[in-house]
Amino acid sequence: MPNVTISTDARPRLVTTAIELRDAVAAARADGKTIGLAPTMGALHGGHLSLVRASLAQCDYTIVTIFVNPTQFGPHEDLGEYPRTLETDLDALSQCGVDLVFAPTNDGIYPKGFSTYVDPPRVAEALEGQCRRGHFRGVTTVVLKLFNLAQADVAFFGQKDYQQSLVIRWMVQDLDFPIEVRVCPTVREPDGLAMSSRNRYLSQPEREQALTLWRSLKLAVELFAQGESDAERITARMRELFEQTNINRVDYVALADPETLQPVHQIQASTVALVAAYVGDTRLIDNCRIGNDE
Ligand code: PAJ
Repeated sequence: MPNVTISTDARPRLVTTAIELRDAVAAARADGKTIGLAPTMGALHGGHLSLVRASLAQCDYTIVTIFVNPTQFGPHEDLGEYPRTLETDLDALSQCGVDLVFAPTNDGIYPKGFSTYVDPPRVAEALEGQCRRGHFRGVTTVVLKLFNLAQADVAFFGQKDYQQSLVIRWMVQDLDFPIEVRVCPTVREPDGLAMSSRNRYLSQPEREQALTLWRSLKLAVELFAQGESDAERITARMRELFEQTNINRVDYVALADPETLQPVHQIQASTVALVAAYVGDTRLIDNCRIGNDE
């Protein structure tokens, strides 16, 4: 008997041009299918795959986009190093049963002469907006383009990038874009570290240090549960954890209104805690809701 391996995992169809994407979407629409979209920058992990699974469960036709978007990286950020792992990504997506992967080229998204950008909403100004100037302008621009290209009914984003999800929601609302935005919970490693494509930059000791982000968020939840509601006292205790683990570059430790991201002084029932810090050279972010389940 010949040694035959039968695989049930079909590779998703990969397209790289806007025309192919539009044709595929038109065909799916003609079949009466609802279309779900999960925009990513690739180097896929369990967090991304949770968005894909949500789309597969809730829509008839699922499109994943993989594009490392240059306009959302600052001049001194990790655009050059950002992991590009298309083959492995396609393998991971085969196991889920995705319908279409759109992986455009830089020139496909930003052809020569491109000069129109989407000015992000007010909620982009705080936190990440302060630390990564121009970042959200790149995000809103590329996401609006992907929305235009994919013509999806529903788009899936992760709570891991809490501010980004608010920015997208506001953009959709302000510009009357006909798409529904659904935000999926943060997926974590067993010890609590939020999954991130950037975790692969971490050395073993840094991987230990990185847990401080999650520990600081858990501390905020615990202190609030114990009756502490003064934001300054809570953030001071969170910052102590960063100091104790020798994380010296902390961009922010914030307790904020979950809708506007304005700082909160006295914690009410619904608040979001957000942290951003460099572990070695790797910038990580995380967040969690306080007073509500994630
Ligand atoms: P990327 O960092 O690849 O993330 C793609 C999507 O996956 C985002 O919606 C993000 O919030 C979600 N995600 C990442 N880690 C997650 C985790 N641990 N749990 C749940 N969801 C997680 O975010 C971007 O790309 C880009 O800014 C993009 C929106 C694609 C525009 O370029």
